[in-house]
Amino acid sequence: MYKSFGAVQALKNVSFEVAPAEIHCLVGENGSGKSTFVKTVAGVHPPDSGEIILNGNSYPKVNVREAIKEGIQVIYQDLSLFPSMTVAENIATNRMIAENRRFINWKEIREIAAKQLERIGVSLDLDEAVENLSVANRQLVAICRALSLDAKLIFMDEPTTALTKTEVDRLLNIVLDLKSKGISVVFISHKLDEVMEVADLVSIFRDGEKVGDFPSSEVNEKMLVYHMTGRKVEYPRYNRTYKDDTPVLEVKNLTSNGKYEDVSFTVRKGDILGLTGLLGAGRTELALTLFGLNPQDSGKIILEGKERKFTTPYQAIKSGISLVPENRQTQGCYMNKSITDNVAAPILDRMANGGGVLNVNKMKEHAEDTVKTLRVVTAGISTELQNLSGGNQQKVVLGKWIGTNPKVLILDSPTVGVDVGSKEEIYQHIQKFAAQGTAVILISDEIPEILANCNKLIVMKKGKVVGRLESDDLNVADVRDRIHALMDSN
Ligand SMILES: Nc1ncnc2c1ncn2[C@@H]1O[C@H](COP(=O)(O)OP(=O)(O)OP(=O)(O)O)[C@@H](O)[C@H]1O
Ligand SMILES: [Mg+2]
Repeated sequence: MYKSFGAVQALKNVSFEVAPAEIHCLVGENGSGKSTFVKTVAGVHPPDSGEIILNGNSYPKVNVREAIKEGIQVIYQDLSLFPSMTVAENIATNRMIAENRRFINWKEIREIAAKQLERIGVSLDLDEAVENLSVANRQLVAICRALSLDAKLIFMDEPTTALTKTEVDRLLNIVLDLKSKGISVVFISHKLDEVMEVADLVSIFRDGEKVGDFPSSEVNEKMLVYHMTGRKVEYPRYNRTYKDDTPVLEVKNLTSNGKYEDVSFTVRKGDILGLTGLLGAGRTELALTLFGLNPQDSGKIILEGKERKFTTPYQAIKSGISLVPENRQTQGCYMNKSITDNVAAPILDRMANGGGVLNVNKMKEHAEDTVKTLRVVTAGISTELQNLSGGNQQKVVLGKWIGTNPKVLILDSPTVGVDVGSKEEIYQHIQKFAAQGTAVILISDEIPEILANCNKLIVMKKGKVVGRLESDDLNVADVRDRIHALMDSN
């Protein structure tokens, strides 16, 4: 199968087979064509050429209706649920529509929903609005919806990015359970350890081509990385060498009622302070306070020796604090604007000539620079963000805030959805930035990421600091176990 978007050849000569009751993982770098492949099979994009064979029926191209009839279901990352509708309605409505029902039978809606939830062994309140559920539970609703439409093959495009470890385990168990019921799952993920845990077969994409299919018993993480990137990837380890120990940012007994309490720390030039903990630890809320988006109830924020209270992000940015937010779709960028416009947005004053007229060449130069240094895979800087692959959108958001030259750079889960190879580059950039004197706060769940980048670490749990590790503590052999023990402590 072939598929291009303008000048971008997203899929080249890809052949891919899924057997019944098979768990088939699909891995590859950002922009290697994974999501495009899924959308082509599901009837969202017509392929340029090739053939799609579903249950023995051949289609030169398939439309969404045909794909659903053949039992193809996709669980996209945004899950495409109706937030204000109930669990039962979300699970059963598509089936009613697929069956061309003209009358809605509420009792039947509840029955269909209850049956699907039971099939995956989960109990959720049928009458709860989906917007009140956790991401993990919304995902289960999406899976039940797929099952109610008689799915034979479910594609899951990066289903685990926003889940905690426990939630990931539950999802993987459900995937195994679907397999035991004869349903096939194609699972896309950048977390290679997960992939190997459940897969029967692993396929690797690189630059729109399939490198190969491997039985999961024959693969290991190193080899997958090598085939995905064509090189060996090693994360650089950060060492602070800065001589000036004056604090840039001091946080003293900071509290936001019900969100976090009594948090204190100091970051100096060249520090990369890690903030870790399980979901609900209060890290994001804390970051939002520092960025003027979540008022504090008590405590102090001292920036370069002066106490500050930010009530808007504008004030925070003006004072030299930047935040790369957790959720790029809603907070990080303008999806329907170009790369150029996105990276220029926070620094328009620097992009203007005297008199306040925007200098288009300067903007283009800055965008070209960002694309080059962060290795964004794209046809060009005029591409709208919504047409970039997920991981490449993340790189643009990162580039946008790094470009503001902040005194304090807060990164909230900056490599979610980013492939292993690009992580290496992003880490190099973060470290270079710190080495030049920026004070960095890195919020992350990934222990390898923290160990590569941070020279100090704070572990939070349910809004409180439960552990502090300085650089020497971070170099001991059992540091992973220690961090896990702190996260799980009571
Ligand atoms: N609607 C579109 N218009 C133009 N280009 C597109 C569109 N969708 C995808 N592309 C391009 O096709 C290529 C493959 O993108 P795709 O989303 O399939 O990658 P991916 O493997 O899913 O990456 P990621 O891991 O980052 O999600 C990329 O270069 C992307 O920019
Ligand atoms: Mg993708």
